[in-house]
Amino acid sequence: MNIILLGAPGAGKGTQASKIAENYKLLHISTGDIFRANIKGGTEIGKLAKSYIDAGKLVPDEVTCKIVEDRLTWDDAKHGYMLDGFPRNLYQAQQLDKFANIDLCLNINVDEALLMDRICGRRVCSCGESYHVSTLNGATTCAKCGSELYQRADDNPDTVKARLETYNTQTAPLIDYYKSQGKLASVTSGKGSPDEVFEQIRKILDK
Ligand code: AP5
Ligand code: MG
Repeated sequence: MNIILLGAPGAGKGTQASKIAENYKLLHISTGDIFRANIKGGTEIGKLAKSYIDAGKLVPDEVTCKIVEDRLTWDDAKHGYMLDGFPRNLYQAQQLDKFANIDLCLNINVDEALLMDRICGRRVCSCGESYHVSTLNGATTCAKCGSELYQRADDNPDTVKARLETYNTQTAPLIDYYKSQGKLASVTSGKGSPDEVFEQIRKILDK
């Protein structure tokens, strides 16, 4: 099964991707994580991506589509995957249709008022886990691997505002794109805890 996780910044795509990967053995491919790894590694892609990410804008389509198209040719993607953060505009969705067979687009709906707090309170680990300060009880290390947690460079109020604007203008139209293909399923993560949201997802995936 090949799935797209769609949702605004802070909707819980990464949080739910970890749970889906654990329970359904699907490979998690996050374009945001790929760009951050490239920034850390000082690659040419990382240097290019950083200016766009810091501004809350989309990294150019040619670069992003090529990364995903290449990644899907790896052996580990042959048994099913989740795309987290791709596609992010209509052009990327049309390109994806040329090189992949998508079964389902899972749209995570969250009231926009909750997103700023969720993102600015997020702390992440290099192993991929993410937390919120409200549930960390002062802990500064990852419960899974023990590494020190840190805050993402783009998790500040000004960049979050720009990311939300980019989502509303460029990414939200994909909801209708996948609805018209009969592939859309939506879950709501308003007041639900991550586990409650995952229960909704489980019902959809088990059908
Ligand atoms: P990316 O890394 O994809 O960031 P994003 O879309 O802004 O999404 P986030 O990772 O911020 O949120 P999330 O939905 O994963 O939420 P999370 O689970 O962490 O992209 C970053 C940048 O890279 C982009 O801005 C762009 O520049 C570039 N880029 C990436 N892909 C691209 C593409 N295809 N094309 C061009 N450019 C691209 O949860 C957030 C917080 O909420 C956490 O603290 C979590 O603990 C908490 N939380 C989660 N669920 C719940 C819940 N149910 N209740 C309470 N708290 C919750
Ligand atoms: Mg994420």
